[in-house]
Amino acid sequence: MCLNKPKNSNVQIKSTYIRVGENTNNSKYEFLKLFYTKWNQITKPSPRVIIDTHAGTGLVNLVFKNYLFKKKSNKLVYGSTLLAILKTLKISNNLKFIFVEPDNNNFLLLKKCINIVKKKGLPVFEKLEQNFVYKSLQTNRKRIKKQEKESIFPESFNTHLPSGYKRNWEKTKADILIFDKKIGSIIDKIIKDYLLFTDEKTNLKPKSLFFVDPCGAVAWNDVIKKICTLSSKHEGTDMILNWSWGTINRNLKLRSGKSILSKIYGIPLENINKEFEDIYEMEDFFKKYKDQLKQYFKFVVEVGVPKDRRLRPKLSGYKKYFLLLCTNNSSALSLAGYQVEKIKTKLRGKFLDMN
Ligand SMILES: C[S@@+](CC[C@H](N)C(=O)[O-])C[C@H]1O[C@@H](n2cnc3c(N)ncnc32)[C@H](O)[C@@H]1O
Repeated sequence: MCLNKPKNSNVQIKSTYIRVGENTNNSKYEFLKLFYTKWNQITKPSPRVIIDTHAGTGLVNLVFKNYLFKKKSNKLVYGSTLLAILKTLKISNNLKFIFVEPDNNNFLLLKKCINIVKKKGLPVFEKLEQNFVYKSLQTNRKRIKKQEKESIFPESFNTHLPSGYKRNWEKTKADILIFDKKIGSIIDKIIKDYLLFTDEKTNLKPKSLFFVDPCGAVAWNDVIKKICTLSSKHEGTDMILNWSWGTINRNLKLRSGKSILSKIYGIPLENINKEFEDIYEMEDFFKKYKDQLKQYFKFVVEVGVPKDRRLRPKLSGYKKYFLLLCTNNSSALSLAGYQVEKIKTKLRGKFLDMN
């Protein structure tokens, strides 16, 4: 979720990095972190492409409750792009990242982060080697037992180094491409240049994972339908979509509401009244959208958010977005289900706070 204004005036935000709330971190990022690693493992050795269509600023300003001082604090952590790089660091051969961000300020911040990652890498904490010396009971001779290598992958450049570890910088072997364009103006080129080929070395076609995370509406015809069409022709196209109910809800009240609906659903303006005649509740808006996606993807499931959330219209302000996984691959689906269970266990007791 994008927070336009901090709700609490105590929060001091100095940078112009995109701000995210704690609940976003717990749901959206928690899911991405788990999914990227596993998706990358199961799709190798094919060429893999991760496309972050609304890339943001690289780092994000996470606003969280500081329970000790009973006020809100903030810290810079990795956003979706840097998490994608971090979570695929160990298997990065034959992998490509495509990051798209049209806002000038955001693009410059993103570029700055990516340049650091390209030149220096990401910090990884490696456990200092401690060899254990012991005496063999059989020979009474001294023996040395080497400790296994152990690393921690921190999710921020600034994470404090734990004692007994050293800080290394690890580079990804993946290509990272960044475009300062609107996704609608460049998606055809991305598909044509990077997704529709057969790798000469492996004789395999690329697997792609689109992460679509607009801070608001995204056009069906210009963006979503193109990814959907690709998925129905090209096996191994997955999409994680942040479907923003908040934006639809806000815009419905405006004069331009109908044209926004027309854009989001790709339905001609003149048909909007008829198509949305009996639709008032969020579940129905959501269902209509999911039904459209299901025409192209075998599985369209909600992930990264609790299943037992009550979807009542009165609570619509409360549920601002839905993270959807769209895939034709049943192993990606079970992978997602497994990750959601893990997140649930981790966050047990916090469900009603999420989003
Ligand atoms: C919610 S933020 C992305 C956050 C990022 N995915 C993350 O989690 O770190 C949405 C971003 O989309 C960008 N954006 C807005 N319109 C866009 C468009 N037409 N194409 C691509 N990006 C766009 C905004 O400038 C903003 O940086």
